[in-house]
Amino acid sequence: MAPWALVSPASRGIGLELARRLLRTTDLPLIATARGDLDEVRERILDGAGAGVDKERLEVLKLDVCGAVLRVARLCMIGIVHGLAVDAWSS
Ligand SMILES: NC(=O)c1ccc[n+]([C@@H]2O[C@H](COP(=O)([O-])OP(=O)(O)OC[C@H]3O[C@@H](n4cnc5c(N)ncnc54)[C@H](OP(=O)(O)O)[C@@H]3O)[C@@H](O)[C@H]2O)c1
Repeated sequence: MAPWALVSPASRGIGLELARRLLRTTDLPLIATARGDLDEVRERILDGAGAGVDKERLEVLKLDVCGAVLRVARLCMIGIVHGLAVDAWSS
């Protein structure tokens, strides 16, 4: 598999600058994540990446860490409650 880079999050701060730098100084395809407006973040990254960068190398995906953690926690709770119910039913 060809190498590629992931920067998460990349909407501002260190992640934004790292994403721009990777686009400017390497040929790697780049996946960047953000939890807000993906089109806006994509433009923000490309604006600071410099002229001549192939825009097709950049894909911005949605990731809200708290949302993801909450969803996993909810699934775990459902699993535990289901397990307890099955235990209670079979004993
Ligand atoms: N800057 C420094 O000199 C420095 C030095 C040492 C350590 N650090 C640490 O390095 C980290 C990044 O620093 P930074 O200066 O780049 O911070 P920043 O400018 O405040 O950026 C924080 C980034 O985290 C994202 N984020 C926050 N909560 C999130 C969530 N629940 N799900 C997904 N993304 C989330 C923000 O996205 P949104 O735009 O959507 O809010 C933003 O992209 C911090 O933990 C900081 O303490 C920074």
